[in-house]
Amino acid sequence: MVVNPNEQMDFFKEEKNAFRPIHYLGSKLRILETISDIIDEIDPTYGRVYDVFSGSGTVSSYLGRKRSVTSVDIQEYSRILTSAVLQPFYEGELLEVKDRLLNYKLTNLQVCAEPLIQYEEWALAKASDNDIYDICELVELGSIMPYKNNERENISKGLKKALEETVMKLQDMNLFYSEKSITTRYFGGTYFSFKQASELDNLLNMADTFEGRVKDIVIAATLSTASEIVNTVGKQFAQPLKTLDSRGKPKKSLVTKIIKDRSVDVFKMFEMQLNKYFSLEKGNFNHISLCSNFYEALDNITSDTKVVYADPPYTRYHYSRYYHVLETMTLRDNPEITKVKLKGELRMSRGLYRTERHQSPFSIKSLAKEAFISLFSKVSEKNVSLILSYSPYDAEKESTPRVQTISELLELANKYFNKVDVLSIEGFVHSKLNAVGKNFEIPTNAEILIICTEANGEVRNNI
Ligand SMILES: C[S@@+](CC[C@H](N)C(=O)[O-])C[C@H]1O[C@@H](n2cnc3c(N)ncnc32)[C@H](O)[C@@H]1O
Repeated sequence: MVVNPNEQMDFFKEEKNAFRPIHYLGSKLRILETISDIIDEIDPTYGRVYDVFSGSGTVSSYLGRKRSVTSVDIQEYSRILTSAVLQPFYEGELLEVKDRLLNYKLTNLQVCAEPLIQYEEWALAKASDNDIYDICELVELGSIMPYKNNERENISKGLKKALEETVMKLQDMNLFYSEKSITTRYFGGTYFSFKQASELDNLLNMADTFEGRVKDIVIAATLSTASEIVNTVGKQFAQPLKTLDSRGKPKKSLVTKIIKDRSVDVFKMFEMQLNKYFSLEKGNFNHISLCSNFYEALDNITSDTKVVYADPPYTRYHYSRYYHVLETMTLRDNPEITKVKLKGELRMSRGLYRTERHQSPFSIKSLAKEAFISLFSKVSEKNVSLILSYSPYDAEKESTPRVQTISELLELANKYFNKVDVLSIEGFVHSKLNAVGKNFEIPTNAEILIICTEANGEVRNNI
């Protein structure tokens, strides 16, 4: 038995030493110690662990203090975050970043964005006096990309003028199609103030002057900054604020939040985040961060690997929708924006989502079972143990159904591993499939870990 079922565990104890690079839905912050303890029990030799759906990097960061970690996620922003939490960051490098920062506080980008920055400051000042129409209009309709795509016919004269002047300046300075202005063009006004968005671009442009590990850390601290300051409900990127009610009237209740989020100083926040990455205790291990499909990564698993920790998505909501802003800020690839039909016409989506967002098979009902079979069989074939998280936390709301049930997963797990234990918040609820009835019920809100050991190397076509 991996964990003593009689042992009372405090699953929700504060993880004092945990590090959270970004606000993240369904992060494992509260059960890091439990995950780590179980891994230690399965592998007391402190071999390598694979964190195959690494997301925010919180788990990799925690496990990386004791053993070598290979982090894997299909999103490049996640590779950046795990690289930053796992690799060393020396004092000389920190000082060099802070030094170079001085040259990136005010650049041509702020000159270009000046008309919109000033217009927004004027609208925010009016909002402080309870006149909220203009700031709500800017949050709703002030984004540069749809304006440039001729999708802003009915905006106020003042906003139109500010947008037009900024577009002209960006074009004059050859910054309009440049990756150097990507945050300003795609997400200024909507997710961040224009001042903040252009300063986030400055930070990414500064990151370009570094290489490798330090470049990753500078980008990661910029993403952490974006996550802290974003002007949305819940600090995610799935939905910009809806500033108008169903009758098209500005919502007064949002004004305090708009003013507060948009007044956060980007450079101060960045320095705070940078210091946090610097203060991280990082072991002397050979960590690896990969942007890859889980399957290919497991195919090439290194021989020193003893355990795989897997935390895949469980609902039909794709993670790529929640963090698309971070992915675009990382890739800086001028992505196409998804279109939606509005009053018979195709318009850019409100959220400005990239068209090439990853659609995970784990979130698609018809593909999820096959994806889990691949996961179980690949880990078993490599003769490694697997800890699978089953998360009760929904991306959207409590009642969102899981694409796979616990009993379906256990049935699969038992084909590939001779020993399968289930650990929930209450301790062990079941051990072995035969003890688990078809109507297996999990306690509401229970974090579940499915612990698969004694791999039998079963080949998948026997399923
Ligand atoms: C539940 S989240 C992981 C959360 C993470 N454990 C944490 O604490 O931050 C699931 C992650 O799986 C990633 N993902 C989805 N499909 C994938 C695939 N086929 N290969 C690799 N990663 C994938 C998503 O990008 C997302 O970051």
